[in-house]
Amino acid sequence: MDITVPVVIHLDHGNFEAAKEAIAAGYNSVMFDGHDLPFEENLAKTKEIVALAHAKGISVEAEVGSIGGEEDGIIGEGELANVDEAKQIAATGVDFLAAGIGNIHGQYPANWKGLNFERLQELADAVEQPLVLHGGSGIPQEQVEKAISMGVAKLNINTECQLAFAKATREYIEAGKDQQGKGFDPRKLLKPGTDAISDTVKEIIGWMGTKPVKLVPEEL
Ligand code: 13P
Repeated sequence: MDITVPVVIHLDHGNFEAAKEAIAAGYNSVMFDGHDLPFEENLAKTKEIVALAHAKGISVEAEVGSIGGEEDGIIGEGELANVDEAKQIAATGVDFLAAGIGNIHGQYPANWKGLNFERLQELADAVEQPLVLHGGSGIPQEQVEKAISMGVAKLNINTECQLAFAKATREYIEAGKDQQGKGFDPRKLLKPGTDAISDTVKEIIGWMGTKPVKLVPEEL
């Protein structure tokens, strides 16, 4: 496909079994999300996943402190990660750490208080690993940029892409374009939505302080 950037296959929010399956299947990276387990069990299972994954050169993301909202039927309360727990999870050797700092999955309620930068600073001071910000959809640009400047190195965004897709697809159908010519062809019907996801991702990449890189295949 002439892809010119490094691509990884990463498992997002896997439980213990899913993380093990992904490691066996040859994923490049897995997230073991044990936030809903008693802390000691999250810690022990994270350790096991790190051992299995690192033996195969696979990176591991772990989660400490629930990230609010609902994703894939899992509802989190949206707590702030405990710094001592974060240190213990970090000590298992995980490669990056998802920590609750007031972020939630899905759309933010109108009365959302914003990210808790005080806790983010405490976490960034306590652990060496890059931090992961889940629930990236709808966080204002200034807050995303500030979080990145303080140690967030991975931003997970899903809902915003889905909303962009739905809006563009709705506009296409409401304009009656699916009924003109072969506008019903899935390649045409799904194109505006697919382009809208791409535009959303491009825009947000612009907030990341990164520059587009063009790698020649030998460097991959
Ligand atoms: P959003 O759907 O809120 O952007 O969250 C995505 C996410 O964190 C995936 O892990």
